[in-house]
Amino acid sequence: MSDDTTNLADSGCVSRRNFLFGSSAVVASSILLPALPGTGGKALAAEMARYPRKLVGKLSSLKTNEVQHFNYPDDGSTAKSVIVKLGTPAGGGIGKGRDVVAFNALCTHMGGDMRKTYKSEHQVLGPCPFHQSTFDLQRHGMIVSGHATESLPQVLLELEGDDIYAVGLIGLIYGRYDNLKG
Ligand code: FES
Repeated sequence: MSDDTTNLADSGCVSRRNFLFGSSAVVASSILLPALPGTGGKALAAEMARYPRKLVGKLSSLKTNEVQHFNYPDDGSTAKSVIVKLGTPAGGGIGKGRDVVAFNALCTHMGGDMRKTYKSEHQVLGPCPFHQSTFDLQRHGMIVSGHATESLPQVLLELEGDDIYAVGLIGLIYGRYDNLKG
């Protein structure tokens, strides 16, 4: 695994992700994220799983704060994802500026499609068209506001030359009990 996908515990960002992964994950492992305020100083365990590698974009084609769409880990209706170059370092970010991140774009509350809701001024996805939840893309998709209680699933990325590959997920895609079974 590259440094780009193992720096989550060092990123200074936080997330709350407690869920079960299905048995079809290629590799599932836990990472520790720094404690959230109000959690008594306890580090939080987050689960990430590696899935089949998929080419999802070219680094040279990304412009700061312009969102591109792709599907991962399959082409199912709930695999809708976005990739964006934030222009500032982000948890799990790849590239020279560690600022390229990707997320499944279905709201974790009730599945609202948020692919077209990116707000560059705050680097968030949202508000969700259904009930206004908003998620921080700089901090692993954690909730900023709204009804959702789980962070957006973050797509783990790796860079090989100019090619960007999706290689796994942190979190469970809305509507799935297993990220590989849409
Ligand atoms: S579906 Fe997004 S806030 Fe309810």
